[in-house]
Amino acid sequence: MSTPGVEDWSNLNAGQRIAMKYFIVAMVLFVAQILFGLLAGMQYIYPNFLYGVLDFNVNRMVHINAMIVWMLYGFIGSVYWLVEDEAETELVGAKLANINFWVLTVAVGIVVLVYLLVQAGPGEIESVWFINEGREYIEAPRWADVGIVVCTLVFFYNVAATFMKGRWSGISGVLVLDLVALAGLYLAGMFFTTNVSVDQYWWWWVIHLWVEATWEVLVGCIMAWGLIKTLGASRRIVTTWLYIEVALMFGSGILGLGHHYFWIGTPEYWLSIGGFFSALEPIPLVAMVVHAVYDSGRHGFQSRNHPALAWLIAHAFGNFFGAGVWGFMHTLPQINLYTHGTQWTASHGHLAFFGAYATIIIAMIYIALQKWRGDVWMSGDLADNGWKWKWSLGLLHLGMVGMTMALLIAGYEQSFIERALEGSSWSGYFEAQRHPWFVQSMVWREVFGLTMAAGLVLLLWDFVTIGKRESREIKQLVADQSHAA
Ligand code: HEM
Ligand code: HEM
Ligand SMILES: [Fe+2]
Repeated sequence: MSTPGVEDWSNLNAGQRIAMKYFIVAMVLFVAQILFGLLAGMQYIYPNFLYGVLDFNVNRMVHINAMIVWMLYGFIGSVYWLVEDEAETELVGAKLANINFWVLTVAVGIVVLVYLLVQAGPGEIESVWFINEGREYIEAPRWADVGIVVCTLVFFYNVAATFMKGRWSGISGVLVLDLVALAGLYLAGMFFTTNVSVDQYWWWWVIHLWVEATWEVLVGCIMAWGLIKTLGASRRIVTTWLYIEVALMFGSGILGLGHHYFWIGTPEYWLSIGGFFSALEPIPLVAMVVHAVYDSGRHGFQSRNHPALAWLIAHAFGNFFGAGVWGFMHTLPQINLYTHGTQWTASHGHLAFFGAYATIIIAMIYIALQKWRGDVWMSGDLADNGWKWKWSLGLLHLGMVGMTMALLIAGYEQSFIERALEGSSWSGYFEAQRHPWFVQSMVWREVFGLTMAAGLVLLLWDFVTIGKRESREIKQLVADQSHAA
């Protein structure tokens, strides 16, 4: 092991070296996401801004597709990061994994260029194959879809075969089964139907069953592993929690899918099924908060890596509020009738994706940087007092919470004026958009968006510098005997 504070690739195993590459691309795409979000947000305030050059639909598409892809990169990176450690053996196909990374990254680059330069094509099947598929969040053209499936299979083979060669654990068992489901669901978003209801029916399988089932289980696994690593939490306890959370998550999340089937032309029984099961969805999220806080409390928040632990805790709360509370608010059909597709939805979408997923990937990157810099000290009393990680965490959250509130106010106003008073009429739609609460909220969203952008700059600056002026080694935690069974 090299000197603490000095970056050295030889500190990392083969899987971790690949993970670092995934993390770097993830952060590049995070920057792109914020940039295009700011452009789209600006167009709400000045509708003529970039009109005819980069229209709102293009900026929005790049904004949310960059998000999905950077999060997938973050997850793949996280799994590659932990696989050798968890399997206690070497990655089976490091070379293959490397080629896979480059193929995927070049494909992502081409897709983004086509989004920006070509933007749209004629209403023919060729456009679906080569420009974009027109399915929100997963708009990648068909050729890229096929490529993504192949790359995912290679990734899956690498992970599963490594566990098979080495050791299985509760965490890796859940992880591998979850990856099968996660990858399999992507197929539901790949075929084309001319009936919009049928199309939406399948598309939701990807979108809802990813974020409310398979992604949640994946971050549950990462969280379990992260708590063992940062806090020295007991494997027996975190694994037990993981099983409980997974059972609850699948129990409510799968039929919770029905909350997207209220108004798309599906049979009426979805109103009751969706309303009932999705209302139960916050329960596993409560379990996840209790679990994280319980484990941190047991260890008096003594950790090997303060920024990572802080982001793990941020994840537990962000997931609970963004997905659980903000999701619950509009999930009953009686309420969703008024809120559906308003800025209320955007308020929830922002807080949930950021709170549940951006946070935990950032935590994993902090864990990765620590090892890359020679297991350097990252607990309390850092050389610069850790101001960068604390301020970036603060600014990103202030920006996100501010944006969420601004969108929620706009959403309330839309539900009230457009839906309740004006009966969802076309004129009601415009009346709601002109209302001062709406107009001002759009300005505040942009202000808080800029706050987030500042937080992101600080975060990236912290990533390249944290631990660099440290010569101390990682803090060794004294195992709590009664706990570390
Ligand atoms: C981390 C988990 C979650 C994420 C990332 C997430 C994200 C999103 C996003 C982005 C949308 C908008 C989709 C669109 O473009 O139409 C949405 C819609 C919705 N979400 Fe979530 N969500 C999560 C969990 C939940 C939970 C747990 C609930 C319920 C308790 C929920 C309830 C809803 C409902 C009812 C809608 C439809 C809103 C409408 O009718 O316009 N979500 N979610
Ligand atoms: C600078 C900060 C940001 C700004 C200014 C911004 C702006 C926007 C805008 C204008 C839209 C389109 C909304 C619409 O169609 O009415 C949007 C959609 C969306 N953004 Fe952001 N965004 C920002 C950051 C983020 C972050 C950090 C995340 C998640 C990690 C995120 C996730 C989403 C999602 C999921 C949607 C789709 C929501 C829906 O369909 O309801 N955004 N954003
Ligand atoms: Fe959902």
